[in-house]
Amino acid sequence: MSTHIAAEPGQIAPIVLFPGDPLRAKWIAENFLDDATLYSETRGMLGFTGTWEGHRVSVQGSGMGQPSMAIYATELFTEYDVQTIVRVGSCGALAEHLSVRDIIIANGACTDSGINRVRFNGLDYAPVADFSLLRAAVEASEQMSLGSAVHVGLLFSSDQFYSTRPELTEPFVQHGALAVEMETSGLYTLAAFHGRRALSICTVSDHIVTGEATTAHEREQTFGEMIEIALRAATA
Ligand code: HPA
Repeated sequence: MSTHIAAEPGQIAPIVLFPGDPLRAKWIAENFLDDATLYSETRGMLGFTGTWEGHRVSVQGSGMGQPSMAIYATELFTEYDVQTIVRVGSCGALAEHLSVRDIIIANGACTDSGINRVRFNGLDYAPVADFSLLRAAVEASEQMSLGSAVHVGLLFSSDQFYSTRPELTEPFVQHGALAVEMETSGLYTLAAFHGRRALSICTVSDHIVTGEATTAHEREQTFGEMIEIALRAATA
């Protein structure tokens, strides 16, 4: 058992899908994994292990924001020897050409968080995706007939969902950032530090510029396509 995950060593698979919402973890386990069993419900942050097409796969809730996500990612890497984490989340579109339901495979992440400023003594680190996972996710998405458009690009990982200064993301959009979420920068940094593989895939749940939003049904459908891309990439 680690501090925040109540699993015994060996109960968590080397591959972990990592949604923010613990109930999404349950939904993924119920809809995609065979023989899934619950290994932890500490603080309600559910984790399950099962199989997908013969591969052992776990799915663990991360909570929202880099501080929560970092607790679970660190324990997965250091206490359970997890090799591959694929975040499957939602994001708010910042770039005008995106639509709700689009899927973003993040090749890197910018941030307003102070975490990496402390970690790197005020200098700027560039958190990037594991290339083998990124390539496998792109290839998987090209082989699937998807209802959603897929983009590869930058996410902006914000510490605040309710920002008082939304204009701060403008220069990032001018330099290619596609959408805002709250975890990817930290996940990529931790994976690099621990020498493991990480990728973040997000569906656009709302559009910050146009105000467009998805219905619950649309979110579920797009979420399913994203999970399939994540599973194919992680097990490739
Ligand atoms: N901000 C941050 N994270 C998000 C958003 C957002 O607008 N939408 C979905 N995840």
